[in-house]
Amino acid sequence: MDNQTLYDVALQLARQAGEEIARQRHQLDIQFKQGTELVTQADVAADQIIRDGILSRFPQHQILSEELAPDNPTDSEHLWIIDPIDGTVNYAHLHPQVAISIAYYHQGEAQVAVVHNPFLNETFSAINGLGAWLNQQPIQCAATQDMRRALIATGFPYEKHDIPKLIQRLQAVLTQCADVRRLGSAALDICWVACGRLDGYYETVKPWDFAAAQLIAREAGVQFGHIHPVAEGLNPQLVGENIILAVPALFSPLQQLLQQADALFASQKS
Ligand code: IPD
Ligand code: CA
Ligand code: CA
Repeated sequence: MDNQTLYDVALQLARQAGEEIARQRHQLDIQFKQGTELVTQADVAADQIIRDGILSRFPQHQILSEELAPDNPTDSEHLWIIDPIDGTVNYAHLHPQVAISIAYYHQGEAQVAVVHNPFLNETFSAINGLGAWLNQQPIQCAATQDMRRALIATGFPYEKHDIPKLIQRLQAVLTQCADVRRLGSAALDICWVACGRLDGYYETVKPWDFAAAQLIAREAGVQFGHIHPVAEGLNPQLVGENIILAVPALFSPLQQLLQQADALFASQKS
């Protein structure tokens, strides 16, 4: 199977799911998972469209997806990782920062990625080793060198118990960088670092939030890693805890700043 064929499939399915979620936004059916996490009927419908499209072409492939297969193991040779709607809260509140995220991993390494925003008509994509594109035009991250000029995005979990620690990080970033954005779609935050609209991003997320976007970002020259070292034996491309993506000159300074914030938080607690 060549990456170009897989890329064409991912692109086609992202557009198909995009049309469906745009159509369903006129008749929203909102529910709450575990009492707090918002989900709509469109999340499930988009997941089903993408799933059916993949399995009809590649019946042996495995799928990890937020709504229909969130617990599937990630160690299979051919793995698709899907967030049918990233930015569901935005979607339900009629904000435009919403995306469908589809990644294909071969033996644990991202090969093909599509992050499609049907409301702004923007499709970010990448193929491993060949580059990253926005609406088929090549993209490159910003050349920002100075933390004081950096615009940094982050997000906050539905589950609230880590908020005090995240506020400590936020205080450090707001003090040392130009400003902060909370745009509501992790996949698009990362793609926006890839195309130079942002200089960095950090958050704890699930694999489907960043699997596609991290390839797009790396192919656009962004550095990807984690605030703290990833435990031995784990695949960093699948570890969503404390991820950082930043333009090359700012990756280490941002990582150090966030490590210091965590150390300060830990010392205040003890
Ligand atoms: C969420 C968004 C948000 C991030 C959350 C994610 P969802 O995904 O990416 O920006 O802060 O951590 O869960 O729920 O809209 O798919
Ligand atoms: Ca998501
Ligand atoms: Ca989602």
